[in-house]
Amino acid sequence: MHYIYMVLVLLIFSGCDNSSKKIDYDGEMLLKQKCAICHNLKMPPDTYEDEKAPPMMAVVFHLKDFMKITMDDEKFSKFIPFVQDYVLEPSKEKSYCDEESLKTYGVMPSQKGNVSKDELKAIAEYMYDFYDQEVYLKEMQEKSAFDALPKGEQLVLKTGCYNCHDTVKNKVGPSFKSIAQSKNKEIISVIQNGSQGKWKQFHNMMMPAFKNKFSKEELKILEEWINSLATIEEIKPWSVKNAI
Ligand code: HEC
Ligand code: HEC
Repeated sequence: MHYIYMVLVLLIFSGCDNSSKKIDYDGEMLLKQKCAICHNLKMPPDTYEDEKAPPMMAVVFHLKDFMKITMDDEKFSKFIPFVQDYVLEPSKEKSYCDEESLKTYGVMPSQKGNVSKDELKAIAEYMYDFYDQEVYLKEMQEKSAFDALPKGEQLVLKTGCYNCHDTVKNKVGPSFKSIAQSKNKEIISVIQNGSQGKWKQFHNMMMPAFKNKFSKEELKILEEWINSLATIEEIKPWSVKNAI
C-alpha cells in the first residue's frame, strides 16, 4: 500500500516536471549550425564569387523593408512566422527575393528535417535582433571614423595603450605629449622591452613589454605618432576611442 502511494507521488511529480520543462533554444548557435552553410552570417558580410545564398544581413534588411516592419512587435506577428514558414516550405511565389536573385541563387531548398519550427522561432528572433539597420549604420560610422585616424593612433587603440596612457594627461604612465617632449626618450626600445623606474613619478608602475606585438614598420609609425604630439593642446575627442 505504502509502496504504491510512493510510486504515484513520483509519477505525479515527474509528470509535472516534464510538462513545465521548456527547452531554451539558442538562436545564435542554431543559426550558425543550420544556416551558415549557405548564408554568410557576418555583419557586414564577406563577399564570395560563388555564394550559395544571399548574406543573412541582406536577407533580414530586405525582409524588414518589404514587410514594412516599423514596430518591434511585428517581429512576432510578421517576421518570425514568415521565416518559420519559408524555411520549411519555400517557394518562388512566397519569396521576397527579386527575379534576378532568384535566378542567380535558385529557390532555397526546404530545410524540413534539418530544423524544427521551434528552433526556427529562436533563429528568426535572433536574426531580427542581430541584423539591425541602426546598429549597422552606427558600426559603419565608427569604423570609418576609426579608419580616418592616424595609423599610430589606430595601433595604440587596438593594443590597449590607453588603459595606461592618455594623449595629454598623465595616467598610470606618462602622457604621450610629455613622452614626446622628453629628452631621453627611447620610444621603440621601451615599447619592445618594457620599462620601470625611468619616470620618477611613475616609479612603482610598470610599462609592459610588447616584444613581438609590432613589426619594425609599426614601431616606426608609433614613434612618429607619439612624437607628433609634442605640441598638442586640446584633448582629442574620445567618442571614437570609447567606441572601440
Ligand atoms: C542549402 C542552402 C541554404 C540553407 C542551408 C539555408 N538557406 Fe536560406 N536561402 C537560400 C537561398 C538560395 C535563398 C535565396 C532564394 C530564396 O529566396 O529562396 C535563401 C533565402 C532565405 C530567406 C529569404 C526569403 C525571401 O523571401 O527573401 C530566408 C528568410 C532564409 N533563406 C532563411 C534561412 C534560415 C533561417 C536558414 C537556416 C535554418 C537557411 N535559410 C538555410 C539557401 C539556403
Ligand atoms: C600597464 C600599463 C601600461 C600599458 C598598457 C602601456 N604602458 Fe607605456 N608606460 C607605462 C608606464 C608606467 C611607463 C613609465 C615607465 C618608466 O617609468 O620606466 C610607460 C612608458 C612608456 C613610454 C616612455 C618611453 C621612454 O623612453 O620614456 C612609451 C613610449 C610608452 N610607454 C608607450 C606605450 C605604448 C605605445 C603602449 C601600447 C602599445 C603602452 N605604452 C602601453 C605603462 C603602460
